[in-house]
Amino acid sequence: MTINFEGKVAIVTGAGNGLGRSHALALAARGAKVVINDLGGARDGSGASSLASQEVVRLIEENGGEAISHGANVANFEEVQDMVQQTIAKWGRVDILINNAGILRDKSFSKMSIDDFKLVIDVHLMGSVNCTKAVWDIMREQNYGRIVMTTSSSGMYGNFGQSNYGAAKMAVLGLMNTLVIEGAKNNIRVNAIAPTASTRMTEDLMPEDVAKIFTSEAVSAGLMTLCDDDAPNRFVLCAGAGGFSRARIFETEGCFIPQQSQTPEAVRALWSELTEQEGQTAFESGINQSEKFVKKAVTYMASQR
Ligand code: NAI
Repeated sequence: MTINFEGKVAIVTGAGNGLGRSHALALAARGAKVVINDLGGARDGSGASSLASQEVVRLIEENGGEAISHGANVANFEEVQDMVQQTIAKWGRVDILINNAGILRDKSFSKMSIDDFKLVIDVHLMGSVNCTKAVWDIMREQNYGRIVMTTSSSGMYGNFGQSNYGAAKMAVLGLMNTLVIEGAKNNIRVNAIAPTASTRMTEDLMPEDVAKIFTSEAVSAGLMTLCDDDAPNRFVLCAGAGGFSRARIFETEGCFIPQQSQTPEAVRALWSELTEQEGQTAFESGINQSEKFVKKAVTYMASQR
């Protein structure tokens, strides 16, 4: 089935450059009306300009599509609310939100200032919170919403010099996990993309011949599957250079230690049992873990009777 977004209204944050630009062009090419949000600053978040976002609007219109630009700083809730109000005034709904805007302030943790830590959290985490909050009740009322968070392998697995960025990128998955649960009854699905692409954000990290295969378009092809009518829910799609995979947190079955023996030594003695990966599970809610532990305790107590 061809994926299409006819009649849908999408907001793509950070859509003036790189991945966001590519996502916006792909959504528009398949029929979506798109809000091109971009503050237009430098890679480290300094400065502002509307040139890049206006150029994306021009490209979309040139191809017969519909788009508007908005320069909201995603870290500023009032500006984000203004963007959403203008979207509603123009097109009456918001079906898709792609939380993509981002900056870098890399330094080893020892050298990183608290201000640089907070700024990165503000743009990536609070930016995603602000934009999602501003569209959430609209999507609930519509009984339709598709939201995509942008995470990163740096958040899921770590990367030298990116404690601020990694913390923010893992945090958006925490946000996603609860929104999946709270949005389910209103047909709101929340997924995440973990991209790798050659953009200004990664320009000094990739040799030229490698950069050529890490296109933004390859990531956007995957992103489209996370925000159409048939989108999955709670899916973390990793995409780069044509490679696609799923990332997920699994928990081992673990072990049980009765109350009278719950010492640190007893826990350490069972280390290999509690880390055994055979039979591991991916939970749908935090409560599932407590249920597992209660089951173990109940099974033990029954065996003692
Ligand atoms: P980019 O620097 O090319 O584009 C980011 C865009 O976000 C820029 O146009 C910038 O003006 C905009 N932006 C920054 N702060 C903003 C704010 N406060 N409000 C509104 N717009 C703002 O970077 P790229 O590579 O396209 O990154 C897009 C997303 O993908 C980011 O969230 C990034 O962390 C994530 N990502 C990228 C990877 C890559 O390999 N390029 C790897 C993993 C994640």
